[in-house]
Amino acid sequence: MKQKLVIAPSVLSLDYSKVSEQLKELNETRAEWMHFDVMDGHFVPNLTFGPDILKGFKKAVDMVMDVHIMVSDPKFYAPIFIKAGADIVTFHYEAVEDVEECVTLCQTIRALGAKAGVSVRPNTSIEPLLPYLHEMDLFLVMSVEPGFGGQSFMENQLEKVRKLRAYIDEHALSTRIEIDGGINAETAKLAVAAGCDTLVAGSYIFKQNLHEAVKSLLCEE
Ligand code: DX5
Ligand code: ZN
Repeated sequence: MKQKLVIAPSVLSLDYSKVSEQLKELNETRAEWMHFDVMDGHFVPNLTFGPDILKGFKKAVDMVMDVHIMVSDPKFYAPIFIKAGADIVTFHYEAVEDVEECVTLCQTIRALGAKAGVSVRPNTSIEPLLPYLHEMDLFLVMSVEPGFGGQSFMENQLEKVRKLRAYIDEHALSTRIEIDGGINAETAKLAVAAGCDTLVAGSYIFKQNLHEAVKSLLCEE
């Protein structure tokens, strides 16, 4: 079932010369989730935040902490970020051995009290994961190669969104479909039409007025 549209601003694009001002402003927008990108410099060629930053951000806002871990060792890091306050932990299918290990990690995340998300890079097929969507609270389709903000939207990834939407609806699941990378007011419409219910946006939101940017992504007429 398709759920209410949620906007998840990615703090990767926050202006780090004025963090507290930006967090305060973000908290007052209609965005309900904060998308927190963890990169280990190994799974992707970029380094970002550790658990202490998450703890601090969580204190500063009243938002769902949507933590996307782009790391080579998700089994090690998932519990660390849950302890630091993650409400949702999304890890990469490419970073685990196989589907079985992927399902086991989802179960571990849920057992630790968080929601479990699985993500795939643009070149990874989603077919092997479809029968296990009931083990996932969220499926994150990457519409850019993970690692950096500000890249262009890969429209061909919407095919995955359509397949996920069909499977989720057919099996009456409540798994959310999130999309991440190159989202702006135009691509948001395409993503929602394909079946997404959760939109991550970084550079589009933080390069303008945050309220207006979030509002423009809500796809309201
Ligand atoms: C990229 C990250 C994204 C990034 C999106 O690896 O996962 O969350 O912040 O940035 P934009 O919206 O600028 O493409
Ligand atoms: Zn992300």
